[in-house]
Amino acid sequence: MNFQPGTARRLRSRDWFEGNSREALTRRAYVRAEGFTARVFDGKPVVGICNSWSELTTCNAHLRQVAEAVKRGVWAAGGFPLEFPVISLGEQLMRPTTMLYRNLMAIDVEECLRAYPLDAVVLLTGCDKTTPAALMGAASADVPALLVPGGPMLRGMWRGEALGSGTDTRRLWNEKRAGRLTEEQWCELESCISRSAGHCMVMGTASTMTSLAEALGMTLPGCANIPAVDSRRFAIAEESGRRAVELAREELRPAKILTREAFENAIRVDMAIGGSTNAIIHLLALAGRVGIPLPLDRFDEISRSTPLLANVRPSGRFLMEDLYYAGGLPAVVNELAPLLHLDALTVTGRTLGDNVRRAPCYNREVIKPLSDPLKPEGGTVILRGNLAPQGAVIKQSAASPHLLKHRGRAVVFESYADLLARVDDPHLAVDENSILVLKNGGPVGAPGMPEWGDLPIPIKLLRAGVTDMVRVSDARMSGTSYGTVVLHVSPEAAVGGPLAIVQDGDEIELDVPSRRLELRLPESEIRSRLAAWAPPRPCYTRGYGKLFLEHILQAHEGCDFDFLRPQGC
Ligand code: FES
Repeated sequence: MNFQPGTARRLRSRDWFEGNSREALTRRAYVRAEGFTARVFDGKPVVGICNSWSELTTCNAHLRQVAEAVKRGVWAAGGFPLEFPVISLGEQLMRPTTMLYRNLMAIDVEECLRAYPLDAVVLLTGCDKTTPAALMGAASADVPALLVPGGPMLRGMWRGEALGSGTDTRRLWNEKRAGRLTEEQWCELESCISRSAGHCMVMGTASTMTSLAEALGMTLPGCANIPAVDSRRFAIAEESGRRAVELAREELRPAKILTREAFENAIRVDMAIGGSTNAIIHLLALAGRVGIPLPLDRFDEISRSTPLLANVRPSGRFLMEDLYYAGGLPAVVNELAPLLHLDALTVTGRTLGDNVRRAPCYNREVIKPLSDPLKPEGGTVILRGNLAPQGAVIKQSAASPHLLKHRGRAVVFESYADLLARVDDPHLAVDENSILVLKNGGPVGAPGMPEWGDLPIPIKLLRAGVTDMVRVSDARMSGTSYGTVVLHVSPEAAVGGPLAIVQDGDEIELDVPSRRLELRLPESEIRSRLAAWAPPRPCYTRGYGKLFLEHILQAHEGCDFDFLRPQGC
C-alpha cells in the first residue's frame, strides 16, 4: 500500500511555541538565544537530529558532519532542525559491554523525543547497539522518524590483502597465537585495518542492523550500505532531512511502518545477507516495543525458506564496500522480492516494492541470484533441546560444515574469568572433538550478555592445526566472528537454565540440520542436578546495574526491560 497523508494537522511543536503566554515567549526567547530569527517559528516543523556522535564511539565519530548534511535538507524543505545528543555506545571502548546499556540508550532516545518540541526526528547511528537502541526509543515514542546510519568504513588493506574488521583480526590473532605471524606483522595491522570513518565493514552487527533498518522501511532506500566517507553518504543524509520535514507534515509514524510484515521482511533479509546473530535479539526487542509477538521459531521457519545471497564476510568473501558497489541492499531486496511482503509501507510513503523495483545488481559474485544462491538456507538458525528449552542460535553460514552434526564431551568453564585462566593451560583435558562450554555469560550472569561466545580455541590445539571447535554458551558473539558457535542458550545458566548443570565430560549433541542441542544425560540426573543448583550472588546491588538485573528479559525475548514493553504484552 502507498501511504495517504492525513489532512494537515497541528504540529506538535506548536504546543511549546505558539501564543503569547509567558511560557511560550520564554521558550522562543531561549531558542533565539542560539542566534535564530523569529522566522523559525512561522509554522516550520521542528526536526530533531538525534545524534549518537561521540569520540568514544569511534564508529560514530563522523556523525557531526552527517548531521550538518541532514540540517541542509531540513532547512531546504522548510523545516527547523535542532540537533541533540543521546548516550552513545562504543563497542570498542565501553565496559563491560554495550549490551548492558542498549536499553538505557533506548530510554534516552524515547524520553528526549517525548519531552522536547519535535515534530519529526532523524536518528543518526552506526556502531552496533546504537541502531537498535535508537529504533526502540523511536518506536516507543512514536514520533515520525527515519534513520540515517553513518555507513561502513572502507575495507582494510594490509600487504595487498583486503581485510575485514573483526573477522580478519580474529583470524590473524589465531595465526599469531599459533606462531605463524610475527610481532612486527601483527603491529603493522593496527594502521591498516580501520582506515576511515565508519563502522565495521563486514556483515557484523552494525552492518546487519543498519541493513535491517532499511528492510524495515525506516531509512531511505539505499541508505544503509553507502561507505561512511563516500559523498553519497552526505547526499542521502541531506535527502533524509528533506524527507523528515514531509514526515512531520504527513504524520507518518513508526507504528504505521513497524508492522508484522515489516518484521518478516527484516528477518528474511537478515537470513539472505548472513546477518549477525545479534540481530535476532534486537529484532525481538524492537517488535516487543510495538506489541508484535515474534516467536523465535518464526526466525527458523523463515531461515529454512531463505537462501543466503550476500557473499560478505564472515559468511562469504567480500566486504561492505563491495556489497554497496554491487547494488547494495536495494539489489538484495529486489532479488528477494518473491519472498517478501512488498506492500509494506516505508518512510518514503511508498512501499518496499516500489522502492526497489528497478534496483540493479552490478556484481553477481557479491549478490547471488535466488536461482543460484551461496547457500540454500539462511545464515542463522534456531536450535532447541533439553540444553536450550527456550532456544539457542547458531550462525550456520559462518560455521564449519563438518561440525554441524557433532557429539563431544564438554569442557566446562564456569565463568569468563575461569575461561581466561585455563583455556591455554597445557594440561587442560581437551581435544578437537571436545565441546567448549561457557556458563554465566548471559543477560543476568555476565551481566549484560557480552560477546564472549566465540571461546578461543586452546593454544595447543591451534598449534596442532585445529581451526574450529563446537562452542556453547549463553553469551553473544560479535557479528564479525565465525566458527561453530552456539549462542544465546536460553534460559541462561545464571537463572537456572540447564546450561548451569553441565559438567566436564558430559556428552553434548549438536545437530543443526535437525535444529537440536541436547545434553545426553538421563532425565533423572538432569532433574537432580537442577534441584541442587543455587543462583549466583547478584553482582550489582545499586544503580543502573540493579535496575538491569531486576528487569532484563531473557535472550529469546530480546533482552529488553520488562517495563518498557507496551502494557498487556
Ligand atoms: Fe563499532 Fe564494530 S566497533 S561497529
